[in-house]
Amino acid sequence: MRPLLRATGMHRFAACASLGCLAALGAAPLRAQSQPPAQQQFVGGQVCQGCHADLADSFRRNPHFNSVASGKLPPERTGCEGCHGPGFEHAISADPDRIVRFPALTPAQAQENCLACHAGDLGKMHVRTSAHATGEVGCTNCHSIHDPHETGALLARRQRDLCYGCHQDIRARFEMPFKHRVNEGAMECTDCHNPHGAPVVSWAPAHSSRMVSPSFGNDLPCVGCHTDKRGPFVYEHPPVRVEGCGSCHEPHGSTTPRLLARPVSFTLCLECHNSIDGFGTTGQGIVGPWKGFHNLADPAFRECVLCHSRIHGSNADPLFRR
Ligand code: HEC
Ligand code: HEC
Ligand code: HEC
Ligand code: HEC
Ligand code: HEC
Ligand code: HEC
Ligand code: HEC
Ligand code: HEC
Ligand code: HEC
Ligand code: HEC
Repeated sequence: MRPLLRATGMHRFAACASLGCLAALGAAPLRAQSQPPAQQQFVGGQVCQGCHADLADSFRRNPHFNSVASGKLPPERTGCEGCHGPGFEHAISADPDRIVRFPALTPAQAQENCLACHAGDLGKMHVRTSAHATGEVGCTNCHSIHDPHETGALLARRQRDLCYGCHQDIRARFEMPFKHRVNEGAMECTDCHNPHGAPVVSWAPAHSSRMVSPSFGNDLPCVGCHTDKRGPFVYEHPPVRVEGCGSCHEPHGSTTPRLLARPVSFTLCLECHNSIDGFGTTGQGIVGPWKGFHNLADPAFRECVLCHSRIHGSNADPLFRR
């Protein structure tokens, strides 16, 4: 330990001298009693650089370097010590136990560390109750501060590889014949999900949010891209609004065209429109004056959307035919 200390101490001296922080370091013990105790003292990132040169160099490309660059934030929000806590004791001892070490924290503690600054982000309002946090998946399971895959959002790996690392079963869904092209790179999981948690919204009360991020405040993310399905329509098809797109579509992928949830589309409709006896044999099944009209023995009537083509809602016809 000694030789290292001496050698690195030199760096520290050099780094400090050029930035005038040596005074702060050296003078600390001589200052008035109003100074905080040593273990709470901040030394500034330049001091860390003396011994952790590689990390400090790459840190210049890190979004967290902004706190250093601005020069305006208090020490507890600046640079290395913003996350690792006051470094005085560690800097003079080089003792790894006298600094915040993330692997030594529980996932919840690590998360609170990050949330000291990030709790104000609107997108993280539900982070503490999210399925990830409650499943002990914390910020550092997905983000790597010092060895990120990219310098923007600091993800540890390319996004879909990261998610598939724990959600293998979902990969198979995106390999189905009909799917959203996530594996091809046309979309990402975060086009529909917020891995930091999401509110339970009006289209799925009493249902887990599945961390699906709402668009336009309180709609399904789907209508952010499929804007023609958003409505409002003069004649709404209630399940589109109430149960949501997932009542008829598989969001990830399906063996049926249009991502439909059932292999034969009329069986999908009949899950709800089945309110009468003898359905499918004598052509009833549809209530009201037209109940004799639909004859399911005739294949032509099985392609419901051939006639009811505006199945997501219509401004012209209460039966969604135009
Ligand atoms: C005098 C040299 C020196 C200075 C200055 C220094 N460190 Fe260290 N640091 C070390 C040594 C030596 C280790 C132990 C390395 C090891 O165990 O591999 C260490 C370990 C650490 C660890 C724990 C690494 C682990 O294994 O998890 C962290 C975190 C850390 N330093 C952060 C900082 C920060 C932040 C600063 C600035 C406030 C700083 N260091 C300043 C020498 C220094
Ligand atoms: C945004 C929070 C944050 C900031 C800022 C930060 N670190 Fe870290 N640091 C971490 C986390 C989290 C880990 C644990 C490793 C991981 O999960 O990626 C870590 C690990 C380390 C380690 C030990 C592991 C390793 O990669 O060798 C050292 C040493 C370290 N940091 C030093 C520094 C220094 C020096 C600075 C300033 C240049 C700094 N850190 C700034 C969060 C931060
Ligand atoms: C001391 C306050 C502070 C702490 C603690 C902190 N951050 Fe940050 N973080 C910031 C600031 C400031 C930015 C830069 C925001 C900007 O420039 O818009 C940032 C940016 C980020 C970004 C990139 C944001 C983007 O828009 O691309 C990620 C990801 C991030 N932080 C994750 C973390 C994680 C994970 C932790 C805990 C290991 C953490 N932060 C701890 C203050 C902090
Ligand atoms: C399950 C993985 C996962 C976890 C856990 C996670 N994140 Fe993220 N985070 C992501 C992904 C994915 C993105 C989006 C990256 C992109 O847009 O390319 C992101 C983006 C961010 C951003 C930048 C954009 C934004 O939404 O503000 C910040 C800051 C951030 N995360 C901080 C955190 C913090 C703090 C925690 C812990 C409380 C955390 N993350 C936990 C995966 C995760
Ligand atoms: C087109 C939008 C969309 C995309 C892209 C998407 N999801 Fe989903 N995902 C959803 C919806 C909507 C649900 C909710 C289904 C429900 O309520 O049962 C869901 C549910 C889930 C669930 C929980 C229920 C289940 O089916 O096991 C997991 C886990 C999941 N998604 C992971 C992922 C991952 C990982 C990715 C990226 C590889 C991804 N999703 C991409 C829309 C999407
Ligand atoms: C470190 C492992 C890990 C990583 C990485 C991870 N997850 Fe998860 N995820 C979990 C665990 C654990 C749960 C909660 C248990 C469960 O429902 O399976 C979960 C649950 C979910 C759910 C279901 C939420 C619910 O309410 O049921 C979705 C959606 C999800 N993750 C999406 C993602 C996305 C998107 C990514 C990539 C940005 C991702 N996950 C990365 C471990 C992970
Ligand atoms: C980020 C934009 C985006 C979001 C969000 C999105 N989609 Fe898509 N969707 C697309 C694109 C682009 C296609 C075109 C097909 C392709 O990529 O191969 C598509 C295709 C589809 C198709 C098949 C269309 C066809 O002609 O075969 C259906 C059904 C669908 N999406 C439903 C949904 C549902 C349900 C959701 C919400 C869970 C959703 N989408 C969210 C972009 C999006
Ligand atoms: C009541 C069942 C049902 C609901 C709910 C539903 N869809 Fe559909 N959707 C269908 C059927 C059936 C088709 C196939 C139409 C066809 O083949 O012409 C379809 C086709 C599609 C298509 C591809 C053809 C087109 O019209 O662009 C997209 C995209 C789509 N739906 C998106 C959505 C979105 C987004 C939602 C939620 C806002 C949603 N669907 C809700 C039944 C439904
Ligand atoms: C999740 C349940 C559900 C599914 C699946 C469903 N519908 Fe509906 N549909 C409804 C409800 C509820 C109404 C409103 C009934 C009312 O107002 O009496 C409705 C209304 C209609 C109407 C207007 C006539 C009326 O009684 O108001 C038509 C036409 C219709 N649906 C056709 C279809 C077709 C075609 C499919 C398959 C592509 C389908 N529906 C799938 C629940 C569903
Ligand atoms: C050949 C065209 C055609 C096909 C195929 C078709 N319908 Fe219809 N449907 C109609 C017509 C026409 C009406 C009544 C129109 C009117 O009242 O003006 C109707 C009425 C309805 C109504 C409203 C009944 C009422 O009394 O309120 C429902 C619900 C319905 N159809 C569902 C279905 C379902 C489910 C399928 C597939 C199994 C289907 N339709 C297939 C043409 C069709």
